[in-house]
Amino acid sequence: MIKVSVIGAGTMGAGIAQIAATNGHEVCLFDSFDGAIETAESKLKKILDRLVEKERITQKENEIILGKINFTKDIKEVSGSGLVIEAIIENLDIKQKVFSEIESLVEDNCIIASNTSSLSIASIASACNKPDRVVGIHFFNPAPLMPLVEIIPSVQTSEKTLNSAKSIIDKWRKVTVIVKDTPGFIVNRVARPFYGEAIRVYEEGIADFATIDWAMREIGGFRMGPFQLMDYIGNDINYTVTETVFTAFYFDSRYKPSFTQKRMMEAGYLGRKSGRGYYDYSIENTPKANENRELGQQIVNRILVMLINEAADALFLNIATKEDIDLAMTKGVNYPKGLLAWADEIGISNVLKQLEELQNEYGEDRYRPSPLLKRMVKENRTFY
Ligand SMILES: NC(=O)c1ccc[n+]([C@@H]2O[C@H](COP(=O)([O-])OP(=O)(O)OC[C@H]3O[C@@H](n4cnc5c(N)ncnc54)[C@H](O)[C@@H]3O)[C@@H](O)[C@H]2O)c1
Repeated sequence: MIKVSVIGAGTMGAGIAQIAATNGHEVCLFDSFDGAIETAESKLKKILDRLVEKERITQKENEIILGKINFTKDIKEVSGSGLVIEAIIENLDIKQKVFSEIESLVEDNCIIASNTSSLSIASIASACNKPDRVVGIHFFNPAPLMPLVEIIPSVQTSEKTLNSAKSIIDKWRKVTVIVKDTPGFIVNRVARPFYGEAIRVYEEGIADFATIDWAMREIGGFRMGPFQLMDYIGNDINYTVTETVFTAFYFDSRYKPSFTQKRMMEAGYLGRKSGRGYYDYSIENTPKANENRELGQQIVNRILVMLINEAADALFLNIATKEDIDLAMTKGVNYPKGLLAWADEIGISNVLKQLEELQNEYGEDRYRPSPLLKRMVKENRTFY
């Protein structure tokens, strides 16, 4: 079994190291910052102890997993790895330097992967002499719990690198999807309207946060409402992802960030972690939703057709297969159904009609329907 190295022992790196060790690999977990590796080690010990308490693993397994991880501040220890996964700070210059250094320490057949959420794999790979060995392997937080992993070949990635990377992650019992090296990959692109359109509905005064959240949960079947979820993710993080995707798509108005969320971030109303976001977590009483089902259904329909439009457009542009687009949203962000399957269920002509109505009413490019939806309606086709 190959040795796996993880660079960066933060939130994601520590979780990825845990998965690799649990799956029997010798693991090298490296971090260059003072204290980071010690913190990662003590956090991981606590997590494994909890798993023993909950009887998910035995004490013996706990010891075996920990025994497989070499917590180190010496990057030279990555030598001998078959796979290196980088999970350091989201900064292209720093990632490129680290990739170049890793390449000088490993054999030619070692795959070097990045867990980046927003940088292009092509730009990271360009720092290597053998860019064909570089691929994106994008885990979701918390990595040990979230089943989805997006595998992202860049223009330089070889077929062999892609297949080997996918086969390793499949063996870790993750659900892998293959996605083109484009901004936001699948999940962070297709999910944008879940936040953006919900905020828009609020900004127009159609409903308040609590009502929109209630509608998306109770009528839409989503596990969390958009405002609840933004408070959970953190308005700083969620806003930055939106802004990054918007910029990366050359300011396509579909991904336009909102002032409402920007002001939340500027005010320090980051969500749960700061005690206040869209909701105030210091008070017991949660605001009451207006549980009018007709209004709720309108809200759900509006956000849902925008999500379906995004999923259809990702398929139209061959970002991934229809199966992988649907899997990504159900396994990466717990959507109750795949968006394309959902479109079939409510009728693609209904989706198109609602989008056209929105586009006519607002005159905004944000609501332009994907050409694929138009084509499918014309040809009377369904996704499945
Ligand atoms: N947090 C998430 O939800 C999430 C989800 C998917 C992907 N990602 C991506 O994973 C990567 C890491 O994110 P995170 O949330 O774990 O960050 P983090 O800040 O928790 O951890 C980053 C770690 O990298 C270390 N580090 C920084 N520069 C380094 C260097 N030059 N060499 C070695 N170690 C270095 C830091 O000390 C820190 O321990 C980013 O690329 C991010 O976009 C994050």
